[in-house]
Amino acid sequence: MSQESRHVYPDADALAKGAAIDLQRHAQRCVAEKGIFTLALAGGSTPRKLYTVLASDPMFLEFPWDKTHLFFGDERHVPPTHLDSNYLMVQTTLLSTGRIPAGNVHRIRAELPDANQAAVDYDVELHTFFNTAMRFSQCPRFDMILLGMGPDGHTASLFPGSQGLEEKNRWVVANWVEKFKSTRITFTFPVLNAAHSVWLLVCGPDKADMMFEVLIATRNQANYPVQRVKLLDGFKVWLLDKAAAARLPRSY
Ligand code: 6PG
Repeated sequence: MSQESRHVYPDADALAKGAAIDLQRHAQRCVAEKGIFTLALAGGSTPRKLYTVLASDPMFLEFPWDKTHLFFGDERHVPPTHLDSNYLMVQTTLLSTGRIPAGNVHRIRAELPDANQAAVDYDVELHTFFNTAMRFSQCPRFDMILLGMGPDGHTASLFPGSQGLEEKNRWVVANWVEKFKSTRITFTFPVLNAAHSVWLLVCGPDKADMMFEVLIATRNQANYPVQRVKLLDGFKVWLLDKAAAARLPRSY
């Protein structure tokens, strides 16, 4: 049974603080119940504030990092030192504390010249981790996947019109993004939709029109990639700031 909800925060800072508190509680609950918390991180700029809050004490000290395994929902096809790298963004905001066990951070090797090889390698890493550590036979069920949304309604690196949208079997693919004339490595919808929880962090006035499109104007359709995040059995939560929610009715 899948549920969808949304929470509107006054601004991006309030969203980051509120999301960090709820994420910490979620992690503590998962670790208490099964001794592990599997978290796939979002890229882009919106999550920076959240990761920075998670890295600061006392939040950091009360988060079960030793039992938390961090993955990446998508990555640009660049080395981890490149300014466009999602890993670099996470490194500078969260990992630079040096207090998260290196073995708990599962990076996409996007420096490989062949993006498809990077995707295959990460797919193997997911199979290895989930099939052995958690004995899953089907799609990996992440405890939490964090996602963002672009003004065009893309999420992770599943962009409108891209081939990755149609992938039904592989968990990770190299996806050509025409608008950027570049390849991205990304989770596919089977992985996103198998998750126990997916939180979509959406901030800023440039997202307001697409939020209206997605939640109101075409709410029961799948016109945009983010509308195809439909959990099989989990919780999809929109975390919005007021600017991104500006065109939504108050009842939202
Ligand atoms: C990426 C992200 C992407 C991002 C959205 C929103 O690699 O860029 O995975 O899906 O979440 O583009 O980006 P902003 O948070 O920068 O608005």
